[in-house]
Amino acid sequence: MKTEVTEIADRIYRLSTFVPMVGPKGFTFNQFLIDADEPLLFHYGHRAMFPLISAAVKSVIPLERLRWTTCSHVEGDESGALNQWLAAAPNATPAHGQIGCNIWLTDMADRAPRPLKNDETIDLGGKRVRWLDTPHVPHNWDAGLIYEDTTGTLFSSDLFTQFGACAATTTDDIVDAAIVTEKAVPFMPATPQAAPTLRRLAALKPRTIALMHGPAFQGDGAAALGALADYYETRQH
Ligand SMILES: [Fe+2]
Ligand SMILES: [Fe+2]
Repeated sequence: MKTEVTEIADRIYRLSTFVPMVGPKGFTFNQFLIDADEPLLFHYGHRAMFPLISAAVKSVIPLERLRWTTCSHVEGDESGALNQWLAAAPNATPAHGQIGCNIWLTDMADRAPRPLKNDETIDLGGKRVRWLDTPHVPHNWDAGLIYEDTTGTLFSSDLFTQFGACAATTTDDIVDAAIVTEKAVPFMPATPQAAPTLRRLAALKPRTIALMHGPAFQGDGAAALGALADYYETRQH
């Protein structure tokens, strides 16, 4: 296995590892590095993948420069290597929404986390990252996503998950594949919050949606999120 590094927007790097033995056609696991005066890493990755992923980050910046780390929710692929990162990146502060800090991060992180309020923006110096509380979207009570304002990039975690190998970026439809995956592996609860949360994300009108398990989609992010919201609305009935 290898981790490929692609700049998907100005100084935003997708670190992508394709694992052929997961699922019917293999599966990609992506982390994202936002390079700025205070660089931020989104998704810690699995513990076993830490050597690969940290080498990928090091190919862009020294780990000492990493100032922030965060992830969408607690789960092996999102948060597994949390403490390996905190050990290797001594200047990084783990950040998460308040619920996540309360229910796991304060206990599980080797350094005190920085809680983020819904819609709070961290000014990274050259990039601005907004934390969005999205409970149970894609799953888990602590779930949140981040949005980078200057590039219009939504980091969507498991939303739009697709199986199989893919290009680093795409302008093709991502909704059909997401629905196929959801039908095969229903990973997101169709709670009453699901569609309204997706519509709230659509209102950001992202120009790029950076998938954790799939390509980075460049195009009409509002339409894609709106279509996914329509699907989850039908699932509730
Ligand atoms: Fe997940
Ligand atoms: Fe994931």
